[in-house]
Amino acid sequence: MNARVDIAGSAALAVAGMRSGYGEAVVVRDVHLTVQPGEIFALLGKNGMGKSTLLKTVMGFLPLQGGAVSFFGEAVGGLAPHLLARRSLAYTPQEQALFQDLTVEDNLRLALRDRTQFAAGLERIGVHFPFIPQRLKQRAGTLSGGEQKMLLVARALMTRPRLILIDEITEGLQPSVIERMVRVLRAERDETGAAMLIVEQNVQFALAVADRYAVLKLGEIVDTGPVGDGAVAARITDQLSV
Ligand SMILES: Nc1ncnc2c1ncn2[C@@H]1O[C@H](COP(=O)(O)OP(=O)(O)OP(=O)(O)O)[C@@H](O)[C@H]1O
Ligand SMILES: [Mg+2]
Repeated sequence: MNARVDIAGSAALAVAGMRSGYGEAVVVRDVHLTVQPGEIFALLGKNGMGKSTLLKTVMGFLPLQGGAVSFFGEAVGGLAPHLLARRSLAYTPQEQALFQDLTVEDNLRLALRDRTQFAAGLERIGVHFPFIPQRLKQRAGTLSGGEQKMLLVARALMTRPRLILIDEITEGLQPSVIERMVRVLRAERDETGAAMLIVEQNVQFALAVADRYAVLKLGEIVDTGPVGDGAVAARITDQLSV
């Protein structure tokens, strides 16, 4: 058994040699990354570099054209999204993902397979986002843009997932809400031990929330490491500007 397989055995998420894309168009080329249990990992990259494609492939919305994906040691490449959700994997997509005509409550309930989890889930997310329990009967489409983003994250947290995939949650958010997202995600990780893979273009947010990062360029990882290194922010900002 080589080192890579050993790591995959214990990782919350292990992506090994992923190739993915749209028909002939290969967008993710040969990506290796692991997210350990309790770790927050930020994947950064400019527009069109393949970040969302990678997340959609992990989540089973796009077929894996090559390589392997495993979730807590179980090979899950090729499994349908609902089967992954049953394995306690939550996904917050980049594009609008709320049911606009349904109420806040119904959007939250749809995330649950077991209705009896609603009260406990609501209590947990109410600590992070106090407006949500007060707006249960409001149509999701009438929430402000920032409130909708918070509801999306809340919905992902309802079930205490073991691994959370979040695609560009800070797009269009004001600084105070971005700071709240940092606190909420780190508190959730500290409390539940969830692992997170966070796709971002906001370098400041990514480095504030994450333990490790990688930069994706044209479907390949060109830089990766711990966020602790003081030179990291400047280096990533450079990589995203060229
Ligand atoms: N459904 C699709 N069919 C064909 N090509 C697609 C499709 N979706 C995305 N692409 C292409 O794949 C490439 C990567 O797109 P992707 O959405 O993964 O980028 P991204 O890194 O998430 O960018 P952004 O930061 O703008 O969200 C782009 O060139 C895009 O045009
Ligand atoms: Mg994207």
